[in-house]
Amino acid sequence: MEEHVTPEPIMQLGMAFWGSKTLLSAIELDVFGALAKGPRNGATLARDLGLHERSARDFLDALVALGMLDREGGGHYANTVETGLFLDRTKPSYVGGLLEMANARLYPFWGSLTEALRTGEMQNEAKGGDDFFGTLYQSPERLKQFLGAMTGVSMGAAMAIAEKFPWDRYQQVIDLGAAQGCVPVQVALRHPHLSGGGFDLPLVGPVFEEYVASFGLGDRLRFFPGDFWNDPFPDAEVYVLGHILHDWNLEEKHTLLRKSHDALPEGGALIVYEAIIDDERRVNAFGLLMSLNMLIETPGGFDYTGADCSSWMRQVGFRETYVEPLAGPDSMVVGIK
Ligand SMILES: C[S@@+](CC[C@H](N)C(=O)[O-])C[C@H]1O[C@@H](n2cnc3c(N)ncnc32)[C@H](O)[C@@H]1O
Repeated sequence: MEEHVTPEPIMQLGMAFWGSKTLLSAIELDVFGALAKGPRNGATLARDLGLHERSARDFLDALVALGMLDREGGGHYANTVETGLFLDRTKPSYVGGLLEMANARLYPFWGSLTEALRTGEMQNEAKGGDDFFGTLYQSPERLKQFLGAMTGVSMGAAMAIAEKFPWDRYQQVIDLGAAQGCVPVQVALRHPHLSGGGFDLPLVGPVFEEYVASFGLGDRLRFFPGDFWNDPFPDAEVYVLGHILHDWNLEEKHTLLRKSHDALPEGGALIVYEAIIDDERRVNAFGLLMSLNMLIETPGGFDYTGADCSSWMRQVGFRETYVEPLAGPDSMVVGIK
């Protein structure tokens, strides 16, 4: 065997779920919230978190070794700069919504990945049926958790869209399938001349309105209740479809793109954003894994490349399209009517 060839990368990836689940449980137990008030010694922290004496030391030191906690002299544990900023639920910079849902839902459902790979069937609470959102939203807790998770997954992209898109050319924006309204909120905060809102299933309304009101934007951003498949889209010069197309099969993707195109005025724009896969399908591992997540979560959804999306946009009539990287694994594909 060649000297520089080691099984290390294989073993690291194969056992990555140990570290991942340790972090997800730490978020569930609110370790980072407990330490937001300041460093604590192990015994006090273990007692406050309700940890068994057998688990506490290994759990907390594993978080240190994983770079999620610091341990100071005298055995006091503390948040790192990143976990203090992003995993303390009381801060607006909290990004744990997606990770809370990953812990509560995706982690057990991904245990059935092999079955999904063999059958092509979704493996979540809607398994055996065909209505993911209807099933998910039967529980008000799951509805809230899911919509909060969407804000977690979209925040980086939303801030980049607010910065990079030429908003000065437009007056109104509607986010189609807006969840809490992460994108319209970030865009409206940065561009005071814009108004509009979010279109989503009626059950989502109160969660959208509460989130928008928490930023004092209730006078500029409205909720429009409706169903993609049965209701007209509200008028706007810019539509946003974020993490929507990947929920649906190819025919449904086409329907949403065509409906958006037809409802826009001449010169209007459609922004599609998510973890758009690179055209060679080699680099954006997160985008490719997101597509497997859609296999677990939806009856027919899948992620796609920028070239795929541009060609679908052209097919439904958009005269100009471009792909622009946003933040991390996310890009936007913009279509101009
Ligand atoms: C994956 S989430 C994306 C949320 C948000 N755009 C984001 O990226 O953060 C999909 C959204 O589509 C909404 N949705 C699902 N089916 C819908 C339908 N038939 N009509 C309108 N909205 C729908 C869901 O309620 C949810 O808010």
